[in-house]
Amino acid sequence: MIWSRIAGTGSYLPERLVTNADLARTMDTSDAWIQSRTGIKERHIADASQSSSDMALRACQAALLAANLPASEVDLIIFATSTPDQIFPSSACLLQAKLGIKGGAAFDVQAVCSGFVYALSIADKFIRSGQNRCALVVGAEVFSRILDWNDRSTSVLFGDGAGAVVLRADSKPGILGSVLHADGSLAKILSVPGAVSGGKVIGSAFVQMDGQGVFKFAVRVLDEVARETLAQCRLGITDVDWFIPHQANVRIMDATAKRLGIPSERVVVTVDRHANTSAASVPLALDCAVRDGRIKRGQKILLAGVGGGFTWGAVLLEY
Ligand code: ACO
Repeated sequence: MIWSRIAGTGSYLPERLVTNADLARTMDTSDAWIQSRTGIKERHIADASQSSSDMALRACQAALLAANLPASEVDLIIFATSTPDQIFPSSACLLQAKLGIKGGAAFDVQAVCSGFVYALSIADKFIRSGQNRCALVVGAEVFSRILDWNDRSTSVLFGDGAGAVVLRADSKPGILGSVLHADGSLAKILSVPGAVSGGKVIGSAFVQMDGQGVFKFAVRVLDEVARETLAQCRLGITDVDWFIPHQANVRIMDATAKRLGIPSERVVVTVDRHANTSAASVPLALDCAVRDGRIKRGQKILLAGVGGGFTWGAVLLEY
């Protein structure tokens, strides 16, 4: 039987660190408000010259190094992003060229903050079918470019970054199960409604959000999809060593962990340092917990995402 297994993880954060106090100097907000409502203390913001594929390249190079594999082994790239470098070619193709490889399949996945969970689930299917042997699955975002920095209700919530995994065919279990969902009727509660037409952006090119609507929906579906994925694998929450939910807001994560019945000591939290990096948030948190030694080989990890669309999903894996 062919399984897909994580051979290495990597991440990248842009150099520029912006604290809540920095934001309070340019808009009517405060460190106390942001921390109490979201748990966020600081975020990294990309330089004007950096694109999603530039950051993805750094994360993928780190993941390949951790896996002890050359880029030439990669025969599939799945790139989760809502902030692609350009309309086309896909950021996955641009990344492939930057890695100096060619010939394998490469495409983007657009599922906003659930993007990495979607991409990992898809890569698992490609590998388990025997079609591919070695995939780079990456989430990378420059959300800072689609934020209205005059809108304090959205701009304080997000940051930029990238996270990646090398997923390889293996005889030992890796990804144990996954579940993906979407409900397009909820498109309006979180969107960037602008579209490019005739050389112009028609409509707003900034994030629009019904914060309380997102909050309630996210907590409910993260809990539901985590349970559905555990049931698919015939496992319970007590079998899970680490829960890595989408890093949007510490209050959403706390409420979800409480509903699921997993103690907070087993939830990986990076939103305080990275803010919400959308499709990059789950692989960034995964890489942090691998590199600081919390996540060890053989442990069971539950990843869960929720984001615009609305989309949501979870992946259960043995690291
Ligand atoms: N600084 C100071 N005050 C602010 C700020 C800010 N940055 N933003 C809003 N306020 C004010 C509002 O203007 C409002 O003032 P008013 O009472 O005078 O009208 C007050 O704070 C309360 O605003 P609410 O929007 O009601 O605040 P709420 O308690 O709902 O918190 C928040 C807002 C943090 C956005 C919350 O709704 C939330 O966490 N929602 C989840 C959204 C989220 O995480 N989105 C991420 C993207 S979605 C995803 O990744 C799945």
